Amino acid sequence: MTLASTLAKFLVILLSVYNVRASLVLDNLSDPLYAQAEPDAETGYETNVIFEAGLHYYQPRHVHISYGNSPTEMFVTWSTLSDPGSSIVEFGRGKLSDYRVNGSTTTFTDSGPYKLTQFIHRVTLENLEPGQPYMYHVGSDLGWSEIFFFRVMPNDTNWLPQVAVFGDLGSENAQSLTRLQEEVQMGMYDAIIHVGDFAYDMNTDNGLVGDSFMDQIQPIAGYVPYMTCPGNHENADNFAQYKNRFTMPGDTESMYFSFNMGPIHFISFSTEFYYFLNYGMSPLINQYYWLENDLKEATKPENRAIRPWIVTFGHRPMYCSNNNTDDCTYHETRVRVGVPFLHWFGLEDMFMQYGVDLTIWAHEHSYERMFPLYNRTVYNGSLEEPYRNPKALVHVTTGSAGCKERHDDFLDYMPRWTAFRSTDYGYSRLKVINNTHLYVEQVSDDKDGKVIDSFTLIRDHHEPYDIPIPPEPELDLRY
Ligand SMILES: [Fe+2]
Repeated sequence: MTLASTLAKFLVILLSVYNVRASLVLDNLSDPLYAQAEPDAETGYETNVIFEAGLHYYQPRHVHISYGNSPTEMFVTWSTLSDPGSSIVEFGRGKLSDYRVNGSTTTFTDSGPYKLTQFIHRVTLENLEPGQPYMYHVGSDLGWSEIFFFRVMPNDTNWLPQVAVFGDLGSENAQSLTRLQEEVQMGMYDAIIHVGDFAYDMNTDNGLVGDSFMDQIQPIAGYVPYMTCPGNHENADNFAQYKNRFTMPGDTESMYFSFNMGPIHFISFSTEFYYFLNYGMSPLINQYYWLENDLKEATKPENRAIRPWIVTFGHRPMYCSNNNTDDCTYHETRVRVGVPFLHWFGLEDMFMQYGVDLTIWAHEHSYERMFPLYNRTVYNGSLEEPYRNPKALVHVTTGSAGCKERHDDFLDYMPRWTAFRSTDYGYSRLKVINNTHLYVEQVSDDKDGKVIDSFTLIRDHHEPYDIPIPPEPELDLRY
C-alpha cells in the first residue's frame, strides 16, 4: 500500500466519523479532492472516492414521470445526493409559475460496502387537464432541474395510444437507447413500457450503475411516462433499487399494478415472485389474487365494452425457443403452471379465463412472436389468419433492447408454435387501431430502425377463451 493510498484511507475514515458522506464516480479523476481507493473486497471494483467535505448536492437528477392512480394524475420522481428539505414540482400550461406542489422525500441507502445514500423525491400532480401539454421542473429552493414537458393522457376510450415496449436495456450496451430518445422527443410515443431488467444491475458498484441508468433514461422518462415491472436483475435486497427508484400506481411498491390508456387496460406484474421464493410466498399469493380481482373488474361487461383491450406485461416468458436453460425453455414454466410440484398460482389458465388479449414478456435477449397458444399447443384463429379471433393467448417476447449480456440465441429449429423470431437488438411498438384491431411491430436497431416483423391482432369479441381439454402430448422429439 502506497503512502498516498494509506493517507486516502485515513481521510475516508476521518470523514465518515464526522458523518461527511463520500460518493463514488467511475471515471479516473485528477482533481486533488479525489483519491484512489483500494479495490472493493466484495465487488473487486476499483472505485474513486470523491470527498465532499463541506459540499452538498441538491441538484435534481434521474427526473422521470409515470402515470398516477387516475388519468388526471402524474407521478414525478427524482433523486438528490443531499436532502434539500422539500420536494417541489413547479408546473403549468403556459408557465412554470401556475402551480407549485410539494411532495415527499425518502432516504434510500444502497446496501453495498459504501452505504451510499440518496434522497428520492416523489410528487403527485393532480387534477391535470386531459389531453393538455404541461411544462414542469423539479427541485427545491436549493436547486432546480431543467424544464421538461409532458402531455396528459386524454380521458377518452376512443384515444388510440402508441407505446414502445422492451426489456433488458442495460446501462452498458444500451443499444436501443439513442433511437428511443430520438423517437420519444419526436413525439412518437405516449408512454414507454420497460418489461424488467433495467441496468445490469442497479445495485452494482454501490448502486452507481443504477444511477447511471437513471441518468441515461432521463431524456425519455422526463417527457413520457416510463412504466415498469421488475425483472430478475432487480432482485437484490428484495428489489430495493427498483422499489426506491420508480413510482408506479397502486400501493405495492411498483411490483404489480394496472393502468388504463384509452381503450387498453395494462396490467404489470412480477414474474419474479415465482422465482425468488426466498422473499416469501405471500407476495406471490397476494399478487395472484390481486390479478384475479383486477381482471374480474376489467372484464365486467360495462368496463370491457368501453375498454376492450387487456394487455399484460411481466418479465419472464411462459414460452421461448432460446438455446439456453432458462425456465421458459422447459415445458412447465412457473409463471404458466405455477410453483414447482404443487402447480399453484399459474397464470395461463387465469389469463385464458378472462380473455387477456396480449401478453408481453422480455428476459430472453431476443424477439419472439408466438402463434396463439395454450398448453404448448397452437390455437390459431384460422390457418390463413392466425391472429383473427385467436382461440388462445397471444405472446410476444421483446427482450432485445440491449444490455451487456448481449443476445440470447435460438435453438436451430423452430417449434411449431413460434411464428417469428430474431436476435437483432431492438424494441417493439404497440399501436391501437380501434376496438377490434391492435397492431404490433418490431424495430431492429441493428438494421437502422427497420421494421422486421409486424402483425395485427384482431378480436371481434373480447371474451374468455375456451380452455381446451388438454390434447394428447404431441410426439415431437425435438421439443
Ligand atoms: Fe431477465
